[in-house]
Amino acid sequence: MRILFTGGSSLLAQAWIKINNSKDTFVLGQHKREIVSNKHEVVQLAYSNPSILKEQIKSLNIDVIINCIGLTNVESCEKNSKEANFLNIQLPSLISSIASDLNLKFVHISTDQLYEGDTPYYNEEAPVAPLNIYAKTKYEGEKQILKSNSKALVVRTNFFGFGPNYKPSFSDYILNNLKKGKISNLFEDVFFTPISVKTLSQQIGLLLANNKSGIYNISSNERISKYHFGLTIAKFSGYSSQLIQPISIESLPELVLRPKDMSLSNHKYTGTLNIKLPSIDIQVEEMLNSQEEISEKRIIPYGRQNVSEKDIKSVLNVLKSDFLTQGPIVHQFEKRVSEYCGAKHAVACNSATSALHIACLSLGVGKGDLVWTSPISFVASSNCALYCNADVDFVDIDSATYNMSVEALEQKLVNAKQNNRLPKVVIPVHLAGQSCEMEEIHDLSKKYGFKIIEDASHAIGGTYKGKPVGNCEYSDIAVFSFHPVKIITTCEGGMCLTNDPVIANLLNRYHSHGISRQASEMTKAPDGPWYYEQLNLGLNYRMNEVQAALGLSQMDRLDEFVAERRVLAQNYNKLFEEYNVQIPNQHKDTNSSWHLYIIRIKKNNKLNHKQVFEKLRSAGILVNLHYIPIYRQPYYQKLGFNKQGFEESEKYYEEAISIPIFPGLTNDEQRKVISLIDQPIGFQNLF
Ligand SMILES: Cc1ncc(COP(=O)(O)O)c(C=O)c1O
Repeated sequence: MRILFTGGSSLLAQAWIKINNSKDTFVLGQHKREIVSNKHEVVQLAYSNPSILKEQIKSLNIDVIINCIGLTNVESCEKNSKEANFLNIQLPSLISSIASDLNLKFVHISTDQLYEGDTPYYNEEAPVAPLNIYAKTKYEGEKQILKSNSKALVVRTNFFGFGPNYKPSFSDYILNNLKKGKISNLFEDVFFTPISVKTLSQQIGLLLANNKSGIYNISSNERISKYHFGLTIAKFSGYSSQLIQPISIESLPELVLRPKDMSLSNHKYTGTLNIKLPSIDIQVEEMLNSQEEISEKRIIPYGRQNVSEKDIKSVLNVLKSDFLTQGPIVHQFEKRVSEYCGAKHAVACNSATSALHIACLSLGVGKGDLVWTSPISFVASSNCALYCNADVDFVDIDSATYNMSVEALEQKLVNAKQNNRLPKVVIPVHLAGQSCEMEEIHDLSKKYGFKIIEDASHAIGGTYKGKPVGNCEYSDIAVFSFHPVKIITTCEGGMCLTNDPVIANLLNRYHSHGISRQASEMTKAPDGPWYYEQLNLGLNYRMNEVQAALGLSQMDRLDEFVAERRVLAQNYNKLFEEYNVQIPNQHKDTNSSWHLYIIRIKKNNKLNHKQVFEKLRSAGILVNLHYIPIYRQPYYQKLGFNKQGFEESEKYYEEAISIPIFPGLTNDEQRKVISLIDQPIGFQNLF
């Protein structure tokens, strides 16, 4: 059958199309909400123009229309009876009459809420007594549909299934709470006869095949309470039933009046077609298994952005405003970040790479100077010095934190002093969001006379000795990245922070062509109000208003993001307790922002490092290795680097894997990652 769902974004339509039924093809009729589907046809239907709508439906060449349009939220119907009338009565009856004119089968999805609710198992003949506007409009809709289309099939039901992201269903609500360890309070005195979307869709198919019309209840055989339904989901998903708690509907008098018993008798249907329906237990179990299949195939990256509707609105507001490049929002974003970190100045850039470059320029790095950084970092941490024509060298990492080793740094400084080749700048990198031992590095900077740029690309939201990373107490400049995999994002973006006004001024100049508009800095009195002077060879590294709007909005959730990452990290720590895997070590002075969760696969593990990596990747878990030691890169090899002196970095490179961590990662997904690491090859079905 070729089925058109009017109300294609509805819970029923979306759950229905997820069910494997190769016989049917689906067309999703779009109303207000945009539907994205690469599997099914999506059409924008002209619901407000009956003649165009009729032509559209005719041209679709379909066999059946299933009308899922409706305003189903009882509270919303009460508040907005006009919309309820339109969506529950007028539009369904219009579509029904078009179906009749075009001689198409028509199914209308009605409700089990039409009755007073004082007796169990209502049949199709039972007197209807709608208690609220939702029920009244649904009932009126049924009547009009049957009046305009004598062959229409009206299905009274109450179905369950997993909804689309934007519309979590009752089952989604319960299961999500269970996964998060949250309690669901469910009515023990409200009864219904819920049927799974899969069973419902099969039964509707049978009724259509038998050319049935009129009103049919399609419901399960058993009448259960909402509380009991919650317990069933807990039972078959393996979560604690303690998380399902009974409450009485009487305890919520503010709710719109609704029936306490909505259970339907399915005798007319089962009797007519001589059908035996599966129990609710079986249907729930089946639903949960099908969810496994769906989630199994979800690609899980190691990190990803989390952009909310509010973030999108902030960006849209800027796009509609007068300023797209240099306007007020960039400054608001800079102020917000500097205040959050407790640094005096901030300069927003179009990436952390450009921020690192101007940080070097502002500290006077140039030809003949030497800059040291960690080899276990992204190439940007050392490239920034090369952009300034300086020389680069690396300091080996600490075996516990994988950050620049303070001992190795000190030893290298002792040698460098003897050779009269001390670095001008050292760039410690806060790998994975965990701060380096900044006080010790700062002490060394005083002793050996170098400046410090913290590459804090991973670390916004983290703390060191109880204070936010980025406060520059132990450095000259700190740099953040707002690349989408980082803690907050501006798409591409970065920022320099400093407490030094002279450095701040230079940063500002370098990120904008080397231009100054301050009369006090100019070589002569300004020629007029238009006047500016280029004082250095600078760049265009500015952040724009659109990026800043996203960043500013994301700052509202920074603490939330980091808190969620910390919970995920703790969960991994706990889950890994029984595994032969080294979990990330945390230094006592740090509280990481957990940009990355890096595990190390030990030599005696069942699978070696590469095998684990390949296995996870082929299972759709996009793990990564942060990082290939920079000195191994061909470009750096040509500069004369080799592995010597980097024993810890080399060991790290042979063992490290970054596994997924980002807000929104579920505990189930974490368990899935871990189960794949432990199982030998061949155990798991790969896809
Ligand atoms: C440690 C480190 N430094 C610098 C950068 C460069 O950041 P961006 O992509 O914002 O230029 C990155 C990005 O991955 C990074 O991880």
